[in-house]
Amino acid sequence: MCGIVAYIGRKPAVPVLLEGLKRLEYRGYDSAGIGLMNGGLKICKSVGRVRVLEEKVAALDTAHATVGIGHTRWATHGGVTDANAHPHRDDGTAGHGIAIIHNGIIENYASIKKYLTEKGHTFSSETDTEVLAHLIGELYRGSLEKAVQAALREVTGAYAIAVICEGEPDTLVVARKGSPLMVGIGNGEYIVASDSSAIVAHTTQAFTLADFTVAKLTRESLRTSTIDDVEVTAEVRELEFELAEIELGSYEHYMLKEIFEQPRSLRTCMQGRLDERTGSVVLGGIAEHARTLANAKRIVMFGQGTALHACMVGKYLMEDLAKIAAEHDFASEFRYRNPIVDFGTVVIAVSQSGETADTLAALQEAKQRGALALGMVNVVGSSIARETDAGVYLRVGPEIGVASTKAFTGQVLVLAMLSLYVGRRRYLSQEFVSNFLSEMKAIPEKVQQVLETSEAIRTATAKYVERENWLFLGRGVNYPVALEGALKLKEISYIHAEGMPAAEMKHGPIALIDKGMPVVFVATKNSQYEKILGNIAEVRSRGGHVIAVATEGDDYIKTVAEDVFFVPDVPEQLQPLVTVIPLQLLAYHAAVLRGKDVDKPRNLAKSVTVE
Ligand code: G6P
Repeated sequence: MCGIVAYIGRKPAVPVLLEGLKRLEYRGYDSAGIGLMNGGLKICKSVGRVRVLEEKVAALDTAHATVGIGHTRWATHGGVTDANAHPHRDDGTAGHGIAIIHNGIIENYASIKKYLTEKGHTFSSETDTEVLAHLIGELYRGSLEKAVQAALREVTGAYAIAVICEGEPDTLVVARKGSPLMVGIGNGEYIVASDSSAIVAHTTQAFTLADFTVAKLTRESLRTSTIDDVEVTAEVRELEFELAEIELGSYEHYMLKEIFEQPRSLRTCMQGRLDERTGSVVLGGIAEHARTLANAKRIVMFGQGTALHACMVGKYLMEDLAKIAAEHDFASEFRYRNPIVDFGTVVIAVSQSGETADTLAALQEAKQRGALALGMVNVVGSSIARETDAGVYLRVGPEIGVASTKAFTGQVLVLAMLSLYVGRRRYLSQEFVSNFLSEMKAIPEKVQQVLETSEAIRTATAKYVERENWLFLGRGVNYPVALEGALKLKEISYIHAEGMPAAEMKHGPIALIDKGMPVVFVATKNSQYEKILGNIAEVRSRGGHVIAVATEGDDYIKTVAEDVFFVPDVPEQLQPLVTVIPLQLLAYHAAVLRGKDVDKPRNLAKSVTVE
């Protein structure tokens, strides 16, 4: 949450900053601002989207500014106001024309604010960030780098910051602890951003700043040091994706683009990892831990949001294919319980961004208690990926839409591959795995077939789109899919939806069902098919409208459901990969039909870097 971008070079800074902010808008979008060295410090900020800021900045003469910082905000401390938007400046008694942008939370800001207030500082916002700006100003003795280091030695919490100062107009100082920050290295220029999407248009050479590290950037030089001023070397790497991957192309929304990318992203996810001939799954990243995994007593998977739903599918897969006791948990609950973790426990952190604060903290907690800590993460080099002992990347490409889609199917697929990887080392025969891998390889084509029914799903959705309460029901491996379907609908169309195991409906929620209430059943042919038909009958007899996701060729279901979204037949364990697709499309079409901002739903941020 909150996106930051900063530039120092020879080009006008404003277009670089605005373009970067638009790319990072998915991280937060309640207000935005930029700060420039433009014959002194100039700040321009505004409540609303980046385009509002853009209009405001257009009225200014900024063509000569080649150093600047930009921020898009998702409010934590302080409401959504111009005053609380970033950048913040030091001003007060010790004003040095210092401006800062910040992603994260300064936890001890109240005590620092008290100390500074006693020294005569006055504050013009309610933010923790302004306190840090003032602290840097208070400690400034002619070196911005040293003042930033000194200030960061006093703070606790999380930060990715970029700082500029009137006294040193050709210097940009950035630092990081906990929140993501990447430095792109161009020719005589540096572009710093929360993630590589704002960098890749300018350069493919970049490094991720390590925790507690500060980088001092001028057009000609780069110095990285710890907050205690010990010099460190930055590990520069090549960014792995192309600009085209983060462009909308011919799609109206990123979410739709990403839903339709799934046949390709699933193929990329499997590429080079399945060997049907030998019946083996090749997961190079975890190879050295294969024995520990095979001998594990228990596997605990955690994540938040959609990633948690993937963990729930993972539990079924691990138990069924690998025959290991498996659990799933909200990372936020796991970390604050007193979880039982020992040397026989393997934990798996599941995350698209690799930056979710609770998932990262849960991982650290589990590691400290002796578990082998693995990660199933999409973003290469992200905080979670760096914190794990080993892991498997999803390789589904950048996901920009706030509602996660292709990351979910990537996570489920990776967990399925991992379950086979472990299962083959325990109970599964080569023949079983070989056959299963063939089925897996056919999934992208089957997903494609479901995507081709998008228009029919739109037509059916239109019939119910005015209804404000929906239920999503599934059993077994499709229960997490029901949860995911409900989450997608809530997130982007603001319709109240609940997902639950179909059998649970009778224990209370059935009281909600009245005439015409849409109830979506994931009712594919599998071991629980007959049971779910019983649940459908219960809903029908109370006047609910049944919408079913069912297996192609199932004629009976047409007689008990108002609308049916058919999916091809696949092995039960892999069904979530196809059954989730109609539900993603249903949520997408519902949001468009209700006129909602699909890619930037209200109050949400894609990367939740606060607890
Ligand atoms: C936020 C996003 C969700 C995502 C969740 C976990 O809530 O809006 O789409 O599923 O965070 O994110 P992660 O990056 O850890 O998968």
